[in-house]
Amino acid sequence: MTALVLFGGGGDLAMRMLLPSLYFLEHDGLLPDGLKIIGAARSEETREEYVAKVRAAVEGKAKADDAWSADAWAKLEARLDYLAVDATSAESLKPLRDKVGSGSVTSFLAVSPSLYARIVTAMRAAGLAEPEDRVVLEKPVGRDLESFRAIDDAVADAFGEHQVFRIDHYLGKETVQNLIALRFGNTIFEPLWNNLSIDHVQITVGETVGVGDRWPYYDEYGALRDMLQNHMLQLLCLVAMEPPSDLDPDSVRNEKVKVLRSLRPVTTDEVDRVTVRGQYVSGSVEGQRVKGYDEERGADSDTETFVAIRADIDNWRWAGVPFFMRTGKRLPEKRTEIVIQFKPVPHSIFDRDSRGEVRANRMVIELQPEEDISLTVMNKRPGLDQKMQLQRIDMSLSWGVNQKGAKPPRRRIAYERLLLDAMAGDSTLFVRRDEAEKAWEWVDGVSEAWAEGKVKPMPYRAGTWGPNAADLLLARTGREWKTNAG
Ligand code: BG6
Repeated sequence: MTALVLFGGGGDLAMRMLLPSLYFLEHDGLLPDGLKIIGAARSEETREEYVAKVRAAVEGKAKADDAWSADAWAKLEARLDYLAVDATSAESLKPLRDKVGSGSVTSFLAVSPSLYARIVTAMRAAGLAEPEDRVVLEKPVGRDLESFRAIDDAVADAFGEHQVFRIDHYLGKETVQNLIALRFGNTIFEPLWNNLSIDHVQITVGETVGVGDRWPYYDEYGALRDMLQNHMLQLLCLVAMEPPSDLDPDSVRNEKVKVLRSLRPVTTDEVDRVTVRGQYVSGSVEGQRVKGYDEERGADSDTETFVAIRADIDNWRWAGVPFFMRTGKRLPEKRTEIVIQFKPVPHSIFDRDSRGEVRANRMVIELQPEEDISLTVMNKRPGLDQKMQLQRIDMSLSWGVNQKGAKPPRRRIAYERLLLDAMAGDSTLFVRRDEAEKAWEWVDGVSEAWAEGKVKPMPYRAGTWGPNAADLLLARTGREWKTNAG
C-alpha cells in the first residue's frame, strides 16, 4: 500500500486519535515502508501549517506516554502531506489521486457520516476506489436501518464489501481481543460458557463526561444509537458467539451475526419491563458541579443519555441467561466492564454466617479504567478457626500481574490496531454489512417500542448510576449490578 488518506484530516478524530496512533506506530517501527499519509480537508492551508498542527496534537500525548522521539517524529513528518479538497467533488479529488501516485490507497473517512455517500461517489469517479483500494468508515453510519442502508448502498456502488472497513473502536481495545484469547485459547472456560453454569452477564459502559458541545450530534442519536447499537452489542457478540473455526474475518463475523439474529426483539408490551431510559439533570461528578443535559442543550429534549436493557439471546447456549447492558454519561466513574456471573454452588457445606458464606464465582473483564481480566473464587481464610471460614479472592488472569517486575506494555490507542489491520486488509476486527444491519434492526425495535409506548427518559442526578429503575431491572429478577465494592 502506498498511501493512507485522512479525509477530515484536520478534525477532532484525526487530531485526537488517528494521528497520535500513527505516531505511536511509527515510534514502534510498525508503519509500512514507503507509506505516505495525506491529510485532506476543506481548509486552505499549506503542508507546513498542517504538519505544525499534527505535531502539536501528537507531541503532548507522546511525551505523556514517555514515547516522544525526535527521530520517530522526523520519520512521520517525512510521510505527511496535505491537500485542501472538497471531498464531495470528483474534480477536486483528482489532484489527490495524482499525489498518491500509482499505488493503492486506504481512505479513512473521519468526517460527518452525512457526507459518506457523496464522498464515496466522488472517490469512485476520481479513481480512488480501484479494486486494490480500501475505505474505512467511522461510526455512526446512519441513525437507523433505513438510513444505514441508504449510505451503505452508495458505498457498495463504489467498493466491494472486502474493501470496506467499518470501524468500531471498541474492537481495537486490548482487553476485547484478550477476551477472544481467553475464550478460545483455553479449554477450561468454554465448557462452563453456557446456561448450565452462567447465571447472567452484565455489560457496563459508564462515562463521567457529559454531552457538552457535542449535543447537536448527540441529540439526534442518544445513548441507544451512540453506544448500544455498536460498542455494547459488539461486546455482547464476543461474549456470546460460538467458537469460530478460525480467526478469518468471515468465520468470526458469521458467528457474531448469528448472535445478533438470536436477540429477542423488544416489544411495546414489555418495553417498560426490559428497558430503562434516563437523562441526567444537574448534580456533581468527581467533586465538580455539572449542568443537566437540557441546560447544556439549551432546550428541553427527549434524548436519553442513559440506557439500560435486558437482552435475551434465544438459542441453546444462552436460553434463560439474561444479558444486562447499561451505559450513560455523567455517571460516577469511567468504567467499562463485562461481568460473567456464574451460578452459585448447588448446595453449600459451609456455615452461612457472614464470613463463611459461599459466593458464586464471577469473571470480570475490565476494559477501563484498567485493562484486566479477573476471576473471583472462594478460598479458605488462613487460620485455626473452629469453623472453616471462607473468603473471596480475585485472581487476575492478565498480563500485569503475571509478569512480575516487568514494565507493562504501553497502553495503546484502540485505533493503532485498527489502522494497522485496515492497511493490511485484515477485516476480522471490523463490522460487516449484515452485522451492522442486524444490530440496527434490533435497536430500531427498541426505539420504535419507546415511541409507541411513549417511554420518556427518566431524570437521574449527574454523578449517580442512572435512574432507580435501572436497579429494579435486575432486582425484579433477584439480581443486582456489580458495584466496585463487590
Ligand atoms: C464513542 C461515542 O463512540 O465512544 C462517545 O460516540 C463515547 O459518546 C466514546 O464517549 C467512548 O469511547 P471510550 O473508548 O472512551 O470508551
